[in-house]
Amino acid sequence: MSERSESLDRTNIHRIWRAVLIVIALGVATACYFAPILLATIGAVLLGVLCVRLIYRGRDHYIPNLYARDIRVYDDEYQEFITRSLPELRSRRIQGHPLLWEASQLPASSPENSDELLLDLGVWIGWSTRLTSQASGRPVYGFDTFEGLVEDWQIEDQFLIKQGTFSLSDPLAKRFMQDTGVTVHDGVPDALGRQVQFVKGSTYDTLALFLAERPGTPIRLFHMDLDTYESCLHGLETCKHHFTEGSILVFDEYLVTNGEMRAFFDFQNKYGLEWKYRAWGLEIGEMNAEMVTSPAKRVMYYLAAVTMHLLDGRYLWKIFTKRFWRFWLGAPIGDIAFMIGAAGLRKSVSLEITGLGTLAR
Ligand SMILES: C[S@@+](CC[C@H](N)C(=O)[O-])C[C@H]1O[C@@H](n2cnc3c(N)ncnc32)[C@H](O)[C@@H]1O
Repeated sequence: MSERSESLDRTNIHRIWRAVLIVIALGVATACYFAPILLATIGAVLLGVLCVRLIYRGRDHYIPNLYARDIRVYDDEYQEFITRSLPELRSRRIQGHPLLWEASQLPASSPENSDELLLDLGVWIGWSTRLTSQASGRPVYGFDTFEGLVEDWQIEDQFLIKQGTFSLSDPLAKRFMQDTGVTVHDGVPDALGRQVQFVKGSTYDTLALFLAERPGTPIRLFHMDLDTYESCLHGLETCKHHFTEGSILVFDEYLVTNGEMRAFFDFQNKYGLEWKYRAWGLEIGEMNAEMVTSPAKRVMYYLAAVTMHLLDGRYLWKIFTKRFWRFWLGAPIGDIAFMIGAAGLRKSVSLEITGLGTLAR
C-alpha cells in the first residue's frame, strides 16, 4: 500500500459528541420554555460567570489542557515559554490530528527524498505508524517495547501511569487488536500491508543503533508518543544530529506541561534551536477506534468514548475543582469553543525546525 490515502483523518467521535451537546441544549431550551424559572436561573448564572470573567486575574495560569496544573509552579523562563506559546498555538488550531495533517502534506516518495526518515516513537498496536505511512505514501519506522512504558508517567499533578502500562499483553490492547484486525508475530504487530517496519525494544537501546546504521540521514517527520519527559528528551537528544531545517516534529501530548512540552523546552533551549508551531489538534491514539473493522462495534467504541468524556466532566460538572473555574473564568472564548467541541483533549502539536542553532556546528 504505497499510494497516499486521502481523507484518512476521521473525527467521528467528536461529531457524535457535538450532536449530543446539541440534543442537551435543545432539551434545556425546551425545559426553559415550559419552566421560565429555569431560564431565569440559567441566565443569572451565565451573567454571574461573565461578570466574574471580567475581573478574574488568573488568566495567565490557565493552559488549554484540562488536566494541567497552575503553571505558576514552574520557573519564570518556562512559564514565559508557555505563555508565549499559547497565542501562537491558537492561530494554528486544526480540527483533525496534527500527525496525519503533517504526513499528508509531505512531498510524495521520490528518489530525491528516499533517504529521509519518518519515525514514529511509541506505537502501541501500530496504527499511528501504519496511518502515517498511508497518509504520506512513504515508509515509516515505528519504535516500541511492545511491553509498555519503561518508566512511570506522572501526568501533571493528576495521575500516575505505571511503568509497563500499554503492554500488548494488556486486556485493552488485546481487545483493540482483535477489533481492528491486528496480528502479532514474535511480540511485534504486523505491518498489515503498509510500508512500515517496527523496531522492538526500549528506545534507550534501539534508537541510537538504528541511526548509527543510517549515518547522515535526515529526519523528515518525528512523531513523539513515548509520553514521559525522560523518554521524550532522550529521543530528541538521540536524534539531534539527524534534524535539519524543515524537520517536522509532532508531539502527541504536548500540552502536558511536565512531559513532552517541558522536554522540548529544555531541548530547544540547550541548543538555541529556531522553530515555529504549525498545528494544534487531536491526539492520534483515538484513531484506533476509527480502525475497528465492524461498523456496529465502531459505533459502540464512539459511544463509549463520548460517555467516558461526559462522566469525566472535568469542565462540565466538576464545579468544586480549581481546574473547572480556571477554565470557565480564564479561558478565552475561542479556547472554550475549541475544547468543548471535542470529546477528549486536544493536546497534540506539530512544529517545524527552522534553524539548528548550535547543532549546526
Ligand atoms: C500512548 S502509547 C502510543 C500510542 C500510539 N501512538 C497510538 O496512537 O496508538 C505509548 C507507547 O510508548 C511505548 N514506550 C514508552 N516509552 C518507551 C521507550 N522508552 N521505548 C520504547 N517504547 C516506549 C509504550 O510501550 C507504549 O506503547
